[in-house]
Amino acid sequence: MKVTVKVPATSANLGPGFDSFGLALTLYNTITLEETGSGLEFTGCPADYANEDNLIFVSYKAAMDYMGIPVKGLKVEIDASIPISRGLGSSAALLTAGAMGANALHGSPLSLQQILEVTNPIEGHPDNLAPAIFGGMTASMMCGDKPITVPCPLHPDWKFLALVPDFPLSTSAARGVLPASYSRADAVYNVGRGALVVKALELGDEALLAMAMDDKIHQPYRRSLIADYGIIESMCKEQGAAFCLSGAGPTLLCVTRSDSLAAYLREALPPITVANWTVHELRAEHKGVQVSY
Ligand code: HSE
Repeated sequence: MKVTVKVPATSANLGPGFDSFGLALTLYNTITLEETGSGLEFTGCPADYANEDNLIFVSYKAAMDYMGIPVKGLKVEIDASIPISRGLGSSAALLTAGAMGANALHGSPLSLQQILEVTNPIEGHPDNLAPAIFGGMTASMMCGDKPITVPCPLHPDWKFLALVPDFPLSTSAARGVLPASYSRADAVYNVGRGALVVKALELGDEALLAMAMDDKIHQPYRRSLIADYGIIESMCKEQGAAFCLSGAGPTLLCVTRSDSLAAYLREALPPITVANWTVHELRAEHKGVQVSY
């Protein structure tokens, strides 16, 4: 028996919601899993990733252990549209696919909350995993070692422009530049903005979102790792859009209700940027992980 698991890309943080907010987007990885007698076989991924460290297998194995079922062999076919090491939740999508595939191949005994609990210790934070699993926008927190997630309503008019550069940035490098502690002023700055980002996204209030979608926890430390950050930030803000780093970057996210901003950025960016940027005009994906047999 084979199962195919489709998982959306995600954008984490959404400015002030570091390690907490996330949003599923209309870009997908589709992964087919088939159990075999022995061995591990991959198609559709570079040879360097075709081994036991592949996050699909790590997460499949974690779910099998959780269900108490021994692992034999596995054949994995990957059709990936989510770019790797770009801040669009590619790791979370692979982890979700592995655990959900194991679950579906064994009669689906696990709930989506259990899929989150199996995968979260591997990822380390639930902000990408929660929207990949449940869909839509989510706010998450850790209570001890238990991830708790709630859905956040979204106005239907938002367009999420993912500006993806031609260079990668590893999450560990992007976390490595963050300080260990913050001032009270910086904490207060983020708490207020976090609450107002949630409300602005619900109301469709672009002016409020553009003001609230700012941060003192991670973006000021990461911007220097990303060529063109300042110039793209200014351009998005001049157009009245909200702007933030997508996850740990290097993708930049421009949030707008405008129908013409994507076309404008495609024209305006190449002459003034150092890197090559691809503009993906995406919508929120309200469905989380989907399984077909
Ligand atoms: N919240 C995470 C970060 C997302 O910003 O480092 C990347 O996995």
